[in-house]
Amino acid sequence: MEKLVITGGTPLKGEVVISGAKNAAVAIIPATLLVNGICTIENLPNISDVKLYCDILKDLGAIVTWNSEHEVTIDTRKIDSHKTPLDVTRKFRASYYLIGALLGRCKHAIVGSPGGCNLGARPIDQHIKGFEALGATVDVSNGNIAASAKKLVGTSIYMDVVSVGATINIMLASVLAEGTTIIDNPAKEPHIVDVANFLNTMGADIRGAGTDIIKINGVKELKGNATYSIVPDQIEAGTFMLAAVASKGDVVIKNCITKHLESIIAKIVEIGGNVDANGDHLRVWCSKRTTKATIKTLPYPGFPTDLQPQMGVALSISDGTSIINESIWESRFQYTAELNKMGAKITAQGKSAVFEGVKSLNASPVYATDLRAGAALIIAGIVAKGKTEIYNLNHIDRGYENIEEKFRKLGAKIERVSE
Ligand code: UD1
Repeated sequence: MEKLVITGGTPLKGEVVISGAKNAAVAIIPATLLVNGICTIENLPNISDVKLYCDILKDLGAIVTWNSEHEVTIDTRKIDSHKTPLDVTRKFRASYYLIGALLGRCKHAIVGSPGGCNLGARPIDQHIKGFEALGATVDVSNGNIAASAKKLVGTSIYMDVVSVGATINIMLASVLAEGTTIIDNPAKEPHIVDVANFLNTMGADIRGAGTDIIKINGVKELKGNATYSIVPDQIEAGTFMLAAVASKGDVVIKNCITKHLESIIAKIVEIGGNVDANGDHLRVWCSKRTTKATIKTLPYPGFPTDLQPQMGVALSISDGTSIINESIWESRFQYTAELNKMGAKITAQGKSAVFEGVKSLNASPVYATDLRAGAALIIAGIVAKGKTEIYNLNHIDRGYENIEEKFRKLGAKIERVSE
């Protein structure tokens, strides 16, 4: 078993380069199934979820060639199966994109019911509603989802819940459908725009991604033979921004789109941190104790749920009492029990948590309960007095590339140790 050992107390200083966005990558890789040709994807994050996804595509008959650590060429001309390896697809959440992509390409898909981080109930009713509206029949049984259609025909689909996954999945299923599909009340996250840009580069006709209405004019085929570069990861950027603030450091975050980070910048400034944003990079620094805040997580452009635990660490040592309302995932406060082992004073109940700011955190053995909780615990370890040990690193490795190396370059005393 591996653990991270962090000797805390060093303010982070220096530069960090942000990788490609995990949540864009895990949608664009399955989106290549819609292309009857070859596509090259650049700026892929080197994380376990991306490798797993590429292996699933190989299993379906794609030829996957890694050109470098961050670039892959995928040839989907010989896809010969719509049945995914069920034990694998059941393991992670983003496997749900295989339903939309395979429905679009083969008119059939069989995928294990998506697993992933335990953040509470994670229904996919809006995905299914979309597929059915396009003409598919969807059967959920024995832990699997089977979808099939004689043909897919564009229509208007109103999303009852703003859902990132359902928005992308309906886009995937409708790109090759007959006629026009309208997605009303879609999610607007940067990776939704990224997936639409990728598909348009390959020959799709998607308009309005990132706005209140997405219109997809079905096309006969996607040609491929193009190269696409994945957008920088705004959650990774936000993680390092909040680490800089919590550790009273001074960090330049490179290769990010500062426009995607506005809600995080606003909250950092509100609690007393400093941000100087310059297009594709920003400097974040903090020289005094931060102050309390009230946060509510919301779909983009609101404050992202995926940065809530990292913000929670900053608030746990801020002056005053802060409140976080988590409006997306009901079980996203599991990390607060781990932070309390480190001396934080957090009371979490249902979708709210009250943070009574303490002056400092103390080292303790702690367990990553999910991906972003793991990132939060690393920040807590960097801030805390003494040697913190973090277990369950598989969660962290799913979504952060070389995380300890990046933090080490900023001066953190962090090591991965095998027990
Ligand atoms: C994606 C992200 C995840 C992030 C989340 C919210 C990926 C791979 N994962 O997850 O990191 O935390 O967006 O920004 O991109 N819902 C329904 N019915 C549905 C679908 C969703 O009720 O059919 C609800 C969910 O329970 C949740 C909310 O809608 O409360 C948002 O979920 P959604 O945006 O779909 O999250 P994911 O796509 O799973």
